[in-house]
Amino acid sequence: MSAELWNSAVRILDQNWSGDHMVPSRHLYPHQWSWDTAFIAVGLAYVNPSRAWRDLRTLFEAQWPDGRVPHIVFDPATAEGAYFPGPAFWDVPAYAGRPARGSTALVQPPLHAVAAWEVYRRATAHGASCARESAERLAWLYPRLVRQQEYLLGRRDAGGDGLAAIVHPWESGLDNSPAWDRAMAAVPADMELMRRFHRRDLDVADAAHRPTDEDYARYVGLVLSYREHRYDDAGLCRWHDFVVECPAFNAILGAAEVALARIAAELGEDPQPHRDRARQITDAIVRLLWDPETATFRARDVRTGTLTPARTVAGLLPLILPGLPARYAEAIMAEVRSERFGLPARTGLPVPSYDRTAPDFDTLRYWRGPIWVNINWLLRRGMLQHGFRGEAEDLRRSILRLVRRSGHYEYFHPKNGEGIGAAAFSWTAALSLDLLPG
Ligand code: GLC
Repeated sequence: MSAELWNSAVRILDQNWSGDHMVPSRHLYPHQWSWDTAFIAVGLAYVNPSRAWRDLRTLFEAQWPDGRVPHIVFDPATAEGAYFPGPAFWDVPAYAGRPARGSTALVQPPLHAVAAWEVYRRATAHGASCARESAERLAWLYPRLVRQQEYLLGRRDAGGDGLAAIVHPWESGLDNSPAWDRAMAAVPADMELMRRFHRRDLDVADAAHRPTDEDYARYVGLVLSYREHRYDDAGLCRWHDFVVECPAFNAILGAAEVALARIAAELGEDPQPHRDRARQITDAIVRLLWDPETATFRARDVRTGTLTPARTVAGLLPLILPGLPARYAEAIMAEVRSERFGLPARTGLPVPSYDRTAPDFDTLRYWRGPIWVNINWLLRRGMLQHGFRGEAEDLRRSILRLVRRSGHYEYFHPKNGEGIGAAAFSWTAALSLDLLPG
C-alpha cells in the first residue's frame, strides 16, 4: 500500500517537472508558484535532491532587488493566454540583472528557509557528493533568504508593529479564505473589469469550486492599485485598500527565522540575530493577533485595527512557532479538537480550512471549507514541536489515508473526503513522500 502511494507521488513529481522548475499542476497552474516550491522541495529531497535545489534556485533567481520573492515566476515557454493574470498584465519593472522571465509583484508565505533546511538535512544523509552539493546550494540561498525576510520585515511592516502585512489575498496562499471577507468588503468590485479580462481558471476548473466573478473583480482591482504605484510599498495604508496581517503568514515568517538560525550556524554565520527575530515575531503575533474573547488567533486589518470575525485555519498555524508560549499552544489544540475543526478522532479526516459550524462553511469552494494537505502538514509539524505526539500521529495517518483513498488532489471535500480541484497536484504528492514512514 505504502509503495503504491510512494510510486504514484514520484510519478506526479516527474510529470510536473518542467526542466528547471516544478509546476503545481499541468493544467490549472502552468508556471512556478513560490510557496508551492517550498512544500515540493521537502518531498523532492527524498527522491531527487538536485531537483529540489534547482527548483529553489529558479525561484530565487527571480528575486527582486528589493528582496521580494515573487509569488509566480512565469515560464516563458507557456503562452500568455494560458494563465490569467499573466506576465503582460503584471507589467513588472525591468531591473538590471533580472532574468528574462516575468513574474508577479506579490509574495507568498516565506516557507523557503524551512524547506531549504529540510532538503539539506535529508540530502546530507544521501552520501558525500550529495552533501557537498547541498552545502554549496545552502550557501548560495542563505543571503537570498535573509533578503527575503528583510523585505517582509521592512517594507511590508505597514503597521510599524513588527509583523509583515499582505496587500492581496493571493499573498496569503489561502486565497479565497473567509479570513479576508471583512477587509475585502471595503474593496470596490468593478464588474466592468471582468468584461475586459478573461478568467482562464474557469476554462479548466469547475466554477462552483472557484472564487466568484465579484471576488475576481476585487482581486484584479487590487493588483491594478498596486501596479499603479509601481509596486512600491511606501505609504501602503494611505492608498491601498487591502493591508492585512495574517497569523499563518507571520507564523511562517517566524518559523523561517528559526530555520535561518540553524542554517547560519551550519554555515559558520551568526545565528543569534535570527533567534532574536523569531522571538520578536512570535511576541508580535501574540500581542496583535490574539483575540482573548474567543481564545483564537485572527487576521488583523491594519487600516482599521480590527480583527477578522472569521475563525479560519490560518489562526491555528502559530503552532509552528517553537517559542509560542504553552498556553497559546493549548488554546490552538482546543480549537483543533473542537467541533469547529474536528480532529481525525472525531471525523476521521484532517482539519478543514474553515470552521465547520460557520453558516457559510462551503464544502466545495476552495479555502472556504475543503481540506488541504499542506496546511495539515504544517499543523502536524506544530503539534510535534509542542509535544502533542499522539495527535500529530493521528493527523499524519489521516492525511495519508485521505490521499491513498482519493488521489493526489489539490484539496478534498471536508465531509466525504472526495478529491476536488486539480488532480496530480505537486505539493500533495511531495508532502505524501515526507509523511510516509521512512
Ligand atoms: C492556489 C492556492 C495557492 C497556491 C496556488 C498554486 O492559488 O490558493 O496557495 O500557491 O494555487 O498551487
